[in-house]
Parts: sequence; structure tokens; C-alpha cells
Amino acid sequence: MTDEPAAPVVNHHADHPGFSGVLGILCALVFAVTGRRSGRLAVELTGVTADDHVVDVGCGPGTAAREATRRGARATGVEPSASMLRVGRMFARRSGVTLREGGAEALPLPDASATAVWALATVHHWPDVGAGLAEAHRVLAPGGRLLAVERQVSPDATGFASHGWTAAQAQAFAQLCRTAGFTEVAVDSERLGRREVWAVSAFRP
Ligand SMILES: C[S@@+](CC[C@H](N)C(=O)[O-])C[C@H]1O[C@@H](n2cnc3c(N)ncnc32)[C@H](O)[C@@H]1O
Repeated sequence: MTDEPAAPVVNHHADHPGFSGVLGILCALVFAVTGRRSGRLAVELTGVTADDHVVDVGCGPGTAAREATRRGARATGVEPSASMLRVGRMFARRSGVTLREGGAEALPLPDASATAVWALATVHHWPDVGAGLAEAHRVLAPGGRLLAVERQVSPDATGFASHGWTAAQAQAFAQLCRTAGFTEVAVDSERLGRREVWAVSAFRP
């Protein structure tokens, strides 16, 4: 019998207490600024046009989703934190982004209703990545695009510096995407400001 090395865990911050109260509001305000750049990257990598309905899972205050509406797309942000949604709703009215309370594991959207699903800096928090990918597959129409972005972290990182993926974790997530039925799964290194991030992209056949 051979011992296969265990696949790296991709949701190593699933036990994070969540973003609530005043700290949650402060984090939401930070993400409201930092999310613009990742939104622009997501728009570029998924080639968003006015024909799209983008679902941004774990959208925080919805900053990236607003970038999709700037391209004329319809955008829905799904987010479990009430603090994030509270800040997001201050901006959402003008942008037309729809914000829905919920988690990756049970998306509050009908089958085949999205053309792109984004998960930006959030998969490492999901309690059940398999369930989240099954939901992404369910809400995407055939031909729809999935994009997950996580910042690149070193294997020995701890604390805040570990919120992201090593190369092995990005590859492990890609394998989970294939198992969930996604095709043309690719792992790329992309620049986001001064940082490098992993971008895992895939198609729903
Ligand atoms: C680091 S923030 C990133 C927010 C936003 N995507 C951005 O790039 O600015 C991670 C987000 O994932 C959300 N999150 C945590 N667990 C989640 C889950 N199970 N499903 C969906 N989102 C979740 C958090 O509430 C938080 O808003």
C-alpha cells in the first residue's frame, strides 16, 4: 500500500469568526477601497460585457461587483456578513448591484441564472468548498465562467499573512473544480498592484 500525500486544505480559514460588529464595518470600509483593483482584474479575466450576469460570491461590500456594472453587466453580490452588507448597501443603490444575504454553500439564486461566478479572496473562508463549487456549477448557465482569486502566500506564513493560497493550495482548488464538473481549469499567476495573486479560472460545460 502506498501513502498518497494528502491534498492541501484550501479553506484553512474556515474557522474565521466572520466579519461582524464594528470590526466588520471597518473591514468592509477597507475592502470597499481594496476591492476595486480585484474587481477590475476579475472583469478583465472573465471578459465581462453588457450581456453578463455576474454573481460575486463572498462579495464583502460589493466593490468588485460594482466594477462589473461599470461594464454594463448585471451583478449580484452574495455575502453572509451583515456588516459587509450594511456598508455595501450604502454604495449599491447608485451602482445597481443587487446584494443578497447568503453563503457559497446555498446561493440564493435560480439554476443557470448567471454567466460568470466570481469568488475573490473568499474561498479560503468557506466551510464546505465542495458544496460551494456545486452551487457555483448549479447557478451558472452552460458556458458560464468561474473565477477564484486568492493572494499568493508562502507555506510558512501565519496570521493575516496566511490569508491566501500557496501554489499547492491553488492547484488543489483547481482539482476540486474538475471534480465538481468544471472544464478547462487553469491556474495562473496574476499581478494585483504590488502583489501576486492566484487566478483559478474554469468553465461550466
Ligand atoms: C477577505 S473578504 C473579501 C471580500 C471581497 N470579495 C473583496 O475581494 O473585497 C472575504 C469575504 O468572504 C466572506 N465569506 C466568509 N465565509 C463565506 C461563505 N461561506 N460564503 C460566502 N462568503 C463568505 C466574508 O464575509 C468576507 O466578506
